[in-house]
Amino acid sequence: MNILVIGSGGREHALVWKIKQSRKAGKVFCAPGNAGTAQLAQNVPIPVDDMEGLARFAKENLVALTVVGPEVPLCEGIVDLFHEMGLTVFGPSKAAAQLEGSKDFMKNVVNSAGAPTAAYETHTVRDEAIDALGHFPNGVVVKADGLAAGKGVVVCDTKEEAVAAIDRMMGQMEFGAAGATVVLEEKLVGEEASVLVFCDGERYHMMPAAQDHKRIGDGDAGPNTGGMGAYSPAPVVTPGILANIESHIIKPVIKTMHDMGAPYRGVLYAGIMITAEGPKVLEFNCRFGDPECQPVMMRLKSDIVPLLTGCAKGALPVEPPEWDPRASVCVVMAAGGYPGSYQKGETISGLDQAAAMKDVVVFHAGTKLDGQNVVTSGGRVLGVTSLGDSVASAVKLAYRAVSEITWDGAVYRTDIAKRALSR
Ligand code: AMP
Ligand code: GLY
Repeated sequence: MNILVIGSGGREHALVWKIKQSRKAGKVFCAPGNAGTAQLAQNVPIPVDDMEGLARFAKENLVALTVVGPEVPLCEGIVDLFHEMGLTVFGPSKAAAQLEGSKDFMKNVVNSAGAPTAAYETHTVRDEAIDALGHFPNGVVVKADGLAAGKGVVVCDTKEEAVAAIDRMMGQMEFGAAGATVVLEEKLVGEEASVLVFCDGERYHMMPAAQDHKRIGDGDAGPNTGGMGAYSPAPVVTPGILANIESHIIKPVIKTMHDMGAPYRGVLYAGIMITAEGPKVLEFNCRFGDPECQPVMMRLKSDIVPLLTGCAKGALPVEPPEWDPRASVCVVMAAGGYPGSYQKGETISGLDQAAAMKDVVVFHAGTKLDGQNVVTSGGRVLGVTSLGDSVASAVKLAYRAVSEITWDGAVYRTDIAKRALSR
């Protein structure tokens, strides 16, 4: 069958890599893709926001399954559009994608499901939001209700910081309409983990837990990014905690979405804080995490195509997928300056040497071909991903591969998976 993957990040390269291993895969397309996906699939120059163009391409090229990577087209209803055209597509409907697209919607669903999460209030009037800050004496998190490319969340330790954040969102409208409504949330303390689940609307299969590294700098210093590295398994999520997350969060949320007429099909990504009182929901994303997808795909032993098709058609295979017991670590290499402004067009060297290492896969993100050369074309450039018998050996191998790769201005964190190693 012909398969189309939509997106151009490390997540999409990992999906294309895994899909290509399936005996069911015929022609594989990636729109728009990157220099890494070009080696495995046919890149198609259609941007992710041209939903009609993508649907037309899928129709004309007899695509039997489309897999949507990023959240923006999902929240804008790409799945509904594909359905109208009779196409099979992996991802939630516009209504179900509101779990990521609106923090207020998410909190309502989580509360209806009785799942543990931080106390919160939703406000649409600036002065009322400011007055409500007194309800959160132990620190408050100010969140823009809508999508803000990961930048709409401000964790505040003082009232002054919270007032400034509310003013940026509701006064200066820094995130446009996405910030016209804000959610104020009690600040939770603990360690974070990402739990991803394949869902078909009613049934689901859990993936092994992963941990992301959101800040740009070692020791979690500096601004937030899309994610600077990830690993799986995450030892903070013990089997007991994973079972708790499944029974108190995942299962009731899927049931609530089904009962409210917005069955969740696709990957449900739960961002969890493991607090002293147990796991609590921080956020839901309506897609694979990037970079969590990279180590999770390295560990998936089963064919992914029946899982993706099963979710899309509401008929997930009964057998749970098989996972490699080994650990996987992904170190993101980024352009100097990211998440601020950075150079593009730098020639990358050492890719072949790194890729030739056993149990290493170099997933591309912001790369493109310039003649024979692979050059940088984005902030996050590569996700160097390894497998090892332990987290420690996977870390060592990933950094050995990273040391083979260079370009002018490359940066990366040197402490990926340190929390797991210090356990
Ligand atoms: P979100 O997009 O809602 O996950 O927020 C992004 C990041 O902000 C999370 O990964 C956490 O690090 C942090 N965060 C969000 N909500 C809270 C909270 N209630 N307490 C503490 N930190 C939070
Ligand atoms: N790595 C976090 C995310 O994909 O949202």
